[in-house]
Amino acid sequence: MPKAGRNAIRRIGISTGGGDAPGLNAVIRAVVLSAHNRGWDVVGIRDGYNGVMLPDQYRDGGLMALTPERVRGITHLGGTIIGTTNQGNPLRFPVQKPDGTTVEVDRCDELVRGLAANGIDAVVAVGGDGSLTIANALAKRGVRIVGVPKTIDNDLSRTVITFGFDTAVSFATECIDRLHSTAASHRRVMVVEVMGRYAGWIALNSGISGTSDAILIPEIPYDLARVGEKIAERFSGGGNFAIVVVAEGARPKGASYSVVEKKAGAAERLGGAGEKLAEELRKLTGRDTRHVVLGHLLRGGTPTTFDRLLSLRFGAAAVRALAAGKSGVMVALDPPKVRYVPLAEATERMKCVPLDCDTILTARELGICLGD
Ligand code: F6P
Repeated sequence: MPKAGRNAIRRIGISTGGGDAPGLNAVIRAVVLSAHNRGWDVVGIRDGYNGVMLPDQYRDGGLMALTPERVRGITHLGGTIIGTTNQGNPLRFPVQKPDGTTVEVDRCDELVRGLAANGIDAVVAVGGDGSLTIANALAKRGVRIVGVPKTIDNDLSRTVITFGFDTAVSFATECIDRLHSTAASHRRVMVVEVMGRYAGWIALNSGISGTSDAILIPEIPYDLARVGEKIAERFSGGGNFAIVVVAEGARPKGASYSVVEKKAGAAERLGGAGEKLAEELRKLTGRDTRHVVLGHLLRGGTPTTFDRLLSLRFGAAAVRALAAGKSGVMVALDPPKVRYVPLAEATERMKCVPLDCDTILTARELGICLGD
């Protein structure tokens, strides 16, 4: 129950920011029910913080009342009922100048005022590194805020896993499984590009589980010749197809990331790594080669049981943290417990695949080529 007095929480806001991930709605439901148990109201801030920053763009003023009835039956649904955005970061808000050029300005103070003006006493910020960096900036400016780690990429430090990752890996694995039969029927090389930004978690975990022949991740810039040799070995050893899983952030030694778009107020967009690799492998091996980009399919659909439960645990833990007077922290999985870690530490650096981790060693033991 809330404590009476000036600092009592009466109303909290929940924001979902960055790319959507399966499990967001489960977090929302857990936050709403846990807050309701304490007598707090909950509003969903639409599209990151746009509901507060740009209220005129919304018919309902940018905030969605989230009652227990409103969040009924959403645990298993993909996406987020309050919307999200990975553009218009309030720390680097894009503003167009009269000469047509765009500059980035810090509009966080305005956001802090907007939250107060809407009677929002505390915030649960659900997001990846970008959204949690914003949450940390808001905490420093006095906003009571708790972060929940979300991303299919699993690249956030200080939590063993983020929600959304298990669903993405499970689906990627299913897709790789499906490619085996078509690749074998045509004696082809199939290149499968998966998301993950600058970390290779999705590629590595799905590539091993889907028994691929090569896995290329951003942490190990690859040597094309090594991948070509592996494919040659595979065919000369009696195999009649080969599967190469490539992370969107993978790149050949000495080359830079394959970027398709870079614009103010948003993270750069990666893409094209799979297509380029397939073309190079076709030339190098002379084999019929196709590529497939799993892309946003990895973010869609129903969360796995693991992600649902993790999301519900994270949402409930975020509300418990606020009730206990915590702020500036992120809920984190440290099995078997959910703990609280400073937002500053969680966002300090990206969690890449450690080259000495047992999953990498497993891939090598299984004879999977990692491009080095
Ligand atoms: O961070 C999640 C993620 O899906 C990355 O894996 C990917 O690089 C990026 O978001 C894609 O973002 P967008 O939704 O802008 O295409």
